[in-house]
Amino acid sequence: MFKDGVRLRCVACGYAAEADPWLFLCPRCGNLMEVVMPGAGGFDWESARRRRFGVWRYRELLPLSDGVVPVTLGEGGTPLIKVARVSSGSVFVKFEGANPTGSFKDRGMTVGVTIAKHLGVEGVLVASTGNTAASAAAYAARAGLRCVVVLPRGGVAKGKLAQAFLHGAEILEVDGVFDDALKEVLEEAVVKGRRDLYPLNSYNPWRLEGQKTLAFELVDELGEPPDCVVVPVGNAGNISAIWKGFRELYEFGLASKLPRMIGVQAEGAAPLVKTWASRSNSLVAVEKPVTVASAIRIGKPVNWLKALKAVDESRGALLAVSDEEIIKSMRDLAALEGVGVEPASAASLAGYRKALELGVIDEDSVTVLVATGHALKDPDVVSKFSDAARAAQKQTRALH
Ligand code: F0G
Repeated sequence: MFKDGVRLRCVACGYAAEADPWLFLCPRCGNLMEVVMPGAGGFDWESARRRRFGVWRYRELLPLSDGVVPVTLGEGGTPLIKVARVSSGSVFVKFEGANPTGSFKDRGMTVGVTIAKHLGVEGVLVASTGNTAASAAAYAARAGLRCVVVLPRGGVAKGKLAQAFLHGAEILEVDGVFDDALKEVLEEAVVKGRRDLYPLNSYNPWRLEGQKTLAFELVDELGEPPDCVVVPVGNAGNISAIWKGFRELYEFGLASKLPRMIGVQAEGAAPLVKTWASRSNSLVAVEKPVTVASAIRIGKPVNWLKALKAVDESRGALLAVSDEEIIKSMRDLAALEGVGVEPASAASLAGYRKALELGVIDEDSVTVLVATGHALKDPDVVSKFSDAARAAQKQTRALH
């Protein structure tokens, strides 16, 4: 199933292993594994550009063998929009809400569900704050597989829950937050070694291979990596995957520089910001994460070590923003730029503003804000704050 020379390596102790779709944790130290690509496999930008813009344009840079048929819905190839009003800097929004199920998760699911299909399992299994569930459900349906999702009861936005039901997922709710749901999935899939359902959370390094294509698309469109990439961080898989994509392009001679990775968390759910700021060698967990941005309401990010490496290796930063700043950024992106995103995604603009304020980034830096999910994902929060905005206008403007 995998290309010759593809390997796995532990992010903590460096333990190396053969490519294995079921190996998630290091047998030596228990930390997470990452995929090691043997090289660029003959990839060149010019030939690639003759293919459809999206995840599979970069097939040589993905670990799956050429003969493996992808389970696809046309994911990736999302718009890169230069902002006109929310900043005078050189800022672009990568609008991941334009993916088939409305979030960046589709990039990972096309690869993860392709592997599941190839393995001949009965179905896939995920814990989720909602978008992973919606995406897994759609791709599993496309592949003719079962999809079992474990969700925090009352903690998932309405649009995402509706998608999971619509695509026929089997839904289990747990009392608690995302971290409790993920614990259940890890227990089934890793501790008990269950093999009928393929686990597709971001501790699965193969899924993250699909998500690294966001970096490829940015270089493809901009001609070189931007100076900074700002990413909302929850379980921390995406920031790690995007950084891996840039690192590989650089190592394979396909890009001449590397960007700085800026991770953003909500103040009430900022375990990585706390860990990074305190220079701790272990995760400073948040037991009861709270934020309006339910997608990133996570207190124990499983990819914490990968993400810290991404930030440190890239000389980046981890910043926390308040819920008020997130909501303001969501409204500004929508009303001033025409880009409708869910609250978690607006953390990237809020984080960019904070980074400017703190002098972490300057306005001359070419910066990409990753807008991870669509506004329609969270109709309750979106309409609540739109109503508030409407009320504040107090009907002062009569029709002229
Ligand atoms: N933005 C959105 C809209 C998300 O749905 C998520 C994660 C993130 C950002 C953070 O990405 O976890 O890779 O750091 N959502 C997961 C889910 C947890 O279950 O849908 P991350």
